[in-house]
Amino acid sequence: MSNEQLLNDGLAQTTLHPLNLRVKSAAGVMLQMEDGQEVIDFISGIGVSSFGHGHPEITAALKRQIDLHLHVMVYGEMRQDSQDLAAARLRALLPSSLDAVYFVNSGAEAIDGALKLARRSTKRGKIIAVHGGYHGNTFGALSVSSNEARKVPFAPLLPEIEFIPWNNSEGLSAINDTVAAVVVETIQGDAGIRIPDVTWIQNLREACSRYGVMLILDEIQCGMGRSGRPFAFEHFGVIPDILCLGKALGGGLPMGAFVSNKKWMRQFATSPELSHITTFGGHPLPCASAAAALSILKALDFQKIEMFAQQFESRIGKHILVQEVRRIGAFIAIELCDADAVEFCVQHALNNGLLIYFFLSTPNSFRVAPPLTMDRSTWMKATDILCQTLDACAASRGMEE
Ligand SMILES: Cc1ncc(COP(=O)(O)O)c(C=O)c1O
Repeated sequence: MSNEQLLNDGLAQTTLHPLNLRVKSAAGVMLQMEDGQEVIDFISGIGVSSFGHGHPEITAALKRQIDLHLHVMVYGEMRQDSQDLAAARLRALLPSSLDAVYFVNSGAEAIDGALKLARRSTKRGKIIAVHGGYHGNTFGALSVSSNEARKVPFAPLLPEIEFIPWNNSEGLSAINDTVAAVVVETIQGDAGIRIPDVTWIQNLREACSRYGVMLILDEIQCGMGRSGRPFAFEHFGVIPDILCLGKALGGGLPMGAFVSNKKWMRQFATSPELSHITTFGGHPLPCASAAAALSILKALDFQKIEMFAQQFESRIGKHILVQEVRRIGAFIAIELCDADAVEFCVQHALNNGLLIYFFLSTPNSFRVAPPLTMDRSTWMKATDILCQTLDACAASRGMEE
């Protein structure tokens, strides 16, 4: 199908260069295309299908919920078992200070809610964000994201946002008692899987605590088991004031959440009442799905995932074309020499039945984020296809292994 046809087909199109695959069904870690092609999903729909496609626990929970009820009332007016269960399972995996969950419909909405909560709680206006950060595309989330080219066409964005360098302690001097919040991905995703130093995150936590600034950790991509632990902040010995989740949280359904402490969250109920509301946030279907996803998360064998991911890294990392592998858990960026090589590899791998994908803001790298439920033989098959792809790319450039 031509790009022009796509645009004229009646669906808003976000790219003139879509993958252009027609998916028929998806099961486990495999995508089946309409033309019969089978593709290994090595990116989990950009960090969403982390528990595979059609996981029996998730589909059973969804079917149960469909038979009970769908939407009954806007968020917060009626008690719903699916919301209670999802919130209880989430809280059980989190430190006790994160005891109030607000469910929304997407990652960007979780960020916007968190920013509002921080302003409301601190009665301050200024927000600090971090270079390289990506937080979504609503006006609030875009304002705290760092890629200028993506922001300029939509200016003016939110005022009073200051950016500090990633993983650099000098920037922390910007934190003072005029700041409402610092918003940061615990591990940067779109910047190409950047893992910060433990000391930087700890110093950041300490500076926020010293000045009464709320630390918002965005784990929309790096949370829910992706980093090798249920939540990425567990690697760093810190606890955020607000945790933002999304993507894999909904088990394949659209959902986000921001989680904080009751003493802050309760402010949304007063002055004015209904300070932050949503029609579909906490919808029973995504909540039922999330409750199942959280139970799968709890039972994941992280040692096994680490072993598969390590074996993958050690094979791929040796390839002549690979400049660097950045990895934590099954959250992986593979950096090549240039963007053309990445383009070649994404297309070649796809032609050979493996889906890897680009980053928005990191052109020389591609992402790998397989479902955490992937078994050893599929990891190995995917690694074989990727090695052949890298070989083909190297050969096309006259490079020899
Ligand atoms: C770290 C991070 N934050 C926020 C978002 C925005 O989430 P959504 O696309 O669901 O609005 C994303 C999406 O990729 C993300 O990776």
